[in-house]
Amino acid sequence: MKNFKTLQWIGDADGFLELTDQRKLPAEFTTMKCTTVEQLFDAIETLAVRGAPAIGVAAGFGICLAAQETDKLKISDALKHIEKRADFLAKSRPTAVNLFWALEKMKESARDFAEKNPNASLDAFKNHLLACAQEIYAHDVEMCAQIGINGEKFIPDNGGILTHCNAGALATAGNGTALSPIFEAQKKGKKFKVYADETRPLLQGARLTAWELQQAGIDVTLLCDNMAGALMKAGKVNAVIVGADRIAANGDAANKIGTYSLSVLAKAHGIPFYIAAPSSTFDLNIKTGAEIPIEHRHADEVACFAGLITAPKGIKVFNPAFDVTDAQNITAIITERGVIQPPNEQNIRKTICR
Ligand code: MRU
Repeated sequence: MKNFKTLQWIGDADGFLELTDQRKLPAEFTTMKCTTVEQLFDAIETLAVRGAPAIGVAAGFGICLAAQETDKLKISDALKHIEKRADFLAKSRPTAVNLFWALEKMKESARDFAEKNPNASLDAFKNHLLACAQEIYAHDVEMCAQIGINGEKFIPDNGGILTHCNAGALATAGNGTALSPIFEAQKKGKKFKVYADETRPLLQGARLTAWELQQAGIDVTLLCDNMAGALMKAGKVNAVIVGADRIAANGDAANKIGTYSLSVLAKAHGIPFYIAAPSSTFDLNIKTGAEIPIEHRHADEVACFAGLITAPKGIKVFNPAFDVTDAQNITAIITERGVIQPPNEQNIRKTICR
């Protein structure tokens, strides 16, 4: 289905990470090379690679780039170096927990290797880390596919589905989270319309989701974010499905700014509201969404548009990149381990911790 790679490691342990440069889509489809940890940090910060699962997978490969900096070090010192570089990458973006999840997995695996093989060669260490990052990649592909299978039943035949931001193939190593059930429904021959919110300020819906769905031959219509209420009132939306960047133990879910408003609108119109996310997006260490760190981005993203100044110079700007949707507004959370309905702490632990 996916005819491009969001990201991929090229070569052996001394290779590099190749990313589809999402800043340039849809005008240009180009890839970029990350040969250093700094380049990857910049790519994550500036959204060349974005979407919670893709950020996590990229960070896994970031540790392979860090391992390339350890030449001539003892394994124990190489491990220390890697831990330092993981801490650096962890500062690239604060909200998507997949970033920290993947870095933690890589660090654990590096520690385990160093403990069991203190006299191993650095090449063996680097190969081990690359295998671990590739495993995170492959696991993400599988999780996306299973989310599609588990969520397909929520895509109404002959209905309309509204989505926000991009939780598609571009946001993951696989087919996406929120878009995966849509691709699965297409495979089954269901007929439906997808409405894509443009997703101000950075237009991930217009630039990425509309592009991806159009490429896949899905009937997609673009709207500005402030048109969603009118669309619902007109009876065009039978379900809302979005991704998530971090889900707290009680089911509160952070996703792209504007998701919370959509959940309130969906509730007011009696429309089911689904979150699709892999188990790597759950943060069971935090009780509620109030504890999720929300990224605030540069004012120019709001005060400028396509390089033009669209607000008075020096204006104060509110620019959170994410908001939190309360669990009570979420009909169900679709994961690769099953559907959590209703999302509450007990149901979440039953599904995610098994
Ligand atoms: O700022 P972005 O583009 O990284 O935000 C992405 C989102 O909010 C996605 O909906 C979320 O990460 C889920 S992606 C499967």
